[in-house]
Amino acid sequence: MFIFKKTEDLRNFLQQKNNGTRDIGFVPTMGALHEGHLSLIRMSKSSNSLCICSIFVNPTQFNQAADLQKYPRTTSKDIALLAKVGCDVLFLPHESEIYPSDLDTKVEIAMNGLDTVMEGEFRPGHFAGVIQVVKRLLDITSPSHLYMGQKDFQQFSIIKHMIRTLDLPVNLVMAPTVRAENGLAKSSRNERLTAEQKEQAGIIYKTLSAAGDVLLRKSVDTIEADAIKTLSIPGFKPEYFDIVDGNTLQPVKDVLNTDWIVACTAVWAGDVRLIDNMILKDEG
Ligand code: PAJ
Repeated sequence: MFIFKKTEDLRNFLQQKNNGTRDIGFVPTMGALHEGHLSLIRMSKSSNSLCICSIFVNPTQFNQAADLQKYPRTTSKDIALLAKVGCDVLFLPHESEIYPSDLDTKVEIAMNGLDTVMEGEFRPGHFAGVIQVVKRLLDITSPSHLYMGQKDFQQFSIIKHMIRTLDLPVNLVMAPTVRAENGLAKSSRNERLTAEQKEQAGIIYKTLSAAGDVLLRKSVDTIEADAIKTLSIPGFKPEYFDIVDGNTLQPVKDVLNTDWIVACTAVWAGDVRLIDNMILKDEG
């Protein structure tokens, strides 16, 4: 696996490799890699001749300095995992490569309300940071395919919106959420849960599944309220449980007349914030 820390070196390498063919798969990450990330690498590898992964803990998407500091950094373990799954290129830039002082990297586009609901409400400025870094990384890597997880559904929707709005020449691919046996979505943050919390956190997946089971029988408001109750077990505190239109991320008013319906939730398990979602209806 080739490892590049400098933008210029990566660009030179890609230019030599590229020779007119353009099937490069790109998987942006913040490291502390787990099976969820590795599934994206495998997906990218299976349909592209070159797979690039980036590890960059992006300061602009953290709205709390403490959260940025606490973010796990396990670079040597990550490198070993990436090499094992056959990733071709790792981009491991320093902050000055992503945000050179003489470059304006901000992305200013109308977000049509995608960034003000759910995560946007609880993490102000977070998505502006995400689109800024993903745009910059796409500019550097010029991939044909970009792989992102359903695990962060709102992030996926916002990147999809950015790609469409700016007409970027890249195909965005959604990878399914990789889960532990009890349904808990794999996440770097799970490392901070106790064994008991991990076990209990299976309730998130169960609650999402239960919402799907009653979608046609109960009102959206009732399903959401029931879910909040179910998730409020001792030591757990749900922040939101929203049933939304998968395109607009706005609340679903009419289940029958909405083609794509997704339940999204954020739950505190002690001091660890977990997010998850499930597609409840997909007739698109
Ligand atoms: P990070 O949390 O490291 O996630 C990198 C990618 O892995 C994202 O596309 C995320 O949705 C996906 N992912 C995480 N857990 C997953 C799981 N259990 N199953 C499937 N995919 C999973 O998301 C970010 O980093 C950053 O915001 C980033 C896009 C890199 C921008 O900084």
